Amino acid sequence: MWRLNPDRCRGAARRLLPLLALLVLTGPSSADAGGNGSKTIAMIGAGDMGQALGNLWASAGYHIIFATRNPDELDEVVEGAGHGAEAASVGEAVARADIITLAVPYKAEPSIAEKYGDAMKGKVLVNVDNALEYRDGEIAQEAEAVGEAIYSARLFEGTRFIRAFNLKAAYSFPDPGEVESAHFRMPWTTNDESVRPIAEKLIRATGGTPVYEGGLENAREY
Ligand SMILES: NC(=O)c1ccc[n+]([C@@H]2O[C@H](COP(=O)([O-])OP(=O)(O)OC[C@H]3O[C@@H](n4cnc5c(N)ncnc54)[C@H](OP(=O)(O)O)[C@@H]3O)[C@@H](O)[C@H]2O)c1
Repeated sequence: MWRLNPDRCRGAARRLLPLLALLVLTGPSSADAGGNGSKTIAMIGAGDMGQALGNLWASAGYHIIFATRNPDELDEVVEGAGHGAEAASVGEAVARADIITLAVPYKAEPSIAEKYGDAMKGKVLVNVDNALEYRDGEIAQEAEAVGEAIYSARLFEGTRFIRAFNLKAAYSFPDPGEVESAHFRMPWTTNDESVRPIAEKLIRATGGTPVYEGGLENAREY
């Protein structure tokens, strides 16, 4: 009768263990359904723009955590995005995310930077905010004087800062089911060349064709 040889089993297990460990460490995670490198996005702001982008990125396989000052009121937003989206406080969302998107009134940026700026350092920050004097007051003038993108990037110093999406109205993005047939160009800027593949993937996930326009100083017009 064929018997298991315990020594052989132990030897095989020893050889297989490193391989198994490697598979566990490098295998696809549940958050990587879209093959986007297992990215969690903290969507700070869940209004028109936060929902338009959050819904598209959730559908593309990113894990979206919507965050506002009132995360308990985001049940409908979370349900609308689906695909495992969640709501959380801004602090929790920032801590758990690889990528942070700011979709808030511009005047909210200084207080968000003060509270969460340190936790954001080293992370990708996508900024879609526009400074509008009628809504944001004095800070709009200050930001326009140096350039809105540069002003925000200084507030969030140490982040991998991307300026994009701010020229396109929330209602004009395609529905998640229509991304493939969408055609629009999306200009974007950064001072950190290393974020290019990340930004371009995020733009393509909304149906846009990325148009890289160089450093943040080139975003003066948008
Ligand atoms: N709508 C567009 O078509 C469009 C297009 C391009 C760019 N933008 C820019 O995108 C930004 C967002 O626009 P929107 O139209 O989406 O605005 P919105 O509909 O008014 O939504 C703003 C969101 O920001 C949240 N918020 C405000 N202050 C906050 C704070 N201190 N911390 C955390 N969350 C905060 C609000 O939630 P709580 O009040 O509950 O905290 C709300 O969910 C603006 O800067 C806008 O200029 C908008």
